Amino acid sequence: MILQQDISLKSYNTFGIEVKARHFIEISSVDELRQALQIESFPDRLILGGGSNMLLTRDIEQLVLHINIKGIRVLWETDENVALKVMAGENWHDFVLWCLERDYGGLENLSLIPGNVGTAPIQNIGAYGVELKDVFESCEAMEVSNQRLQRFTKEECLFGYRDSFFKNQGKGKYVITSVNLVLTKKDHSLNTSYGAIEQYLQLQGIEKPSIRDVSNAVIAIRRSKLPDPAELGNSGSFFKNPVVSAEKHASLSKAYPELPSYKNEQGSYKIPAGWLIEKCGYKGKRFDDAGVHENQALVLVNYGDASGADLLKLAKTIQSDVEKTFGIELTAEVNILG
Ligand code: EPU
Repeated sequence: MILQQDISLKSYNTFGIEVKARHFIEISSVDELRQALQIESFPDRLILGGGSNMLLTRDIEQLVLHINIKGIRVLWETDENVALKVMAGENWHDFVLWCLERDYGGLENLSLIPGNVGTAPIQNIGAYGVELKDVFESCEAMEVSNQRLQRFTKEECLFGYRDSFFKNQGKGKYVITSVNLVLTKKDHSLNTSYGAIEQYLQLQGIEKPSIRDVSNAVIAIRRSKLPDPAELGNSGSFFKNPVVSAEKHASLSKAYPELPSYKNEQGSYKIPAGWLIEKCGYKGKRFDDAGVHENQALVLVNYGDASGADLLKLAKTIQSDVEKTFGIELTAEVNILG
């Protein structure tokens, strides 16, 4: 375990923002994490995983711990299922590919999501009709104050839409070290209800899709809409899709008959934030190096040298315009640090 000084975080965040960590440690085992959390001269730390859901707006004075703990282990298996323990530092998409190679089903709709396994439960990653909670069994996390490892069951994680215990009551108190998932080995239950997946399969003439086919569909859809962080800095959806009451939905639909929406079980409606932002005229707009993606208005992009402050300014302008136009408050999905 080496304590490094003045490390550039540009390659550690998918927005590609150039800020420095004054103090930085690469963590490659649970023991190293314990030791690092015991360093008394640094009572404040920033825990960094894949850096795919954060906007860094200034140099980081806290101790940055980059979680790079690797390993995938089979815990048990039957003819039907397999349970895996995956360490926090595994790259999410590489892990999905590892599962596809073994024909383990359940993660195919979550293909190509940037980030690491350890941060996936924090916001309950989700895409194309599937969320992490659908395959999640439990996770282990180290309590920052006493360095004890604790197990959290699915129920204890309090998963919601892009939400969990670790974003609320548990915020800043735990570092997730591993995640246990239960996947299928046969009779996979495929989720192809999302329109674009159906269209892809039809176009390819695939009638009985495999989990690999569904993954390929998801990868093709994501590539057509979402920028690759390796080519254009971004953090996926910048905002959450807002949820509005039935009354609010009715009045909006009257004013905008073409308004897309999804009805929730409780009678409220989820509105795609991308539509609201596009309607306000921001899709494809660029302000110096900070911009709104041309194919998906929910994604803010860094064309090269945008600072975190530039992107935050753009995000605030968008929030204010959406509020003025629709009376809807957009909340950021990414963590804004600084
Ligand atoms: N839309 C527009 N203009 C846009 C973008 C979207 O009008 O520029 C409208 C369209 O009507 C479209 C609808 O919004 O049909 C939904 O768009 P999309 O399918 O791209 O999904 P989304 O709601 O914008 C969410 C997730 C994504 C996830 C997709 C697919 C959130 C905040 N985002 O986006 O997750 O990949 O659904 O399931 O829930 C992420 O979290 O980083 C992420 C990329």
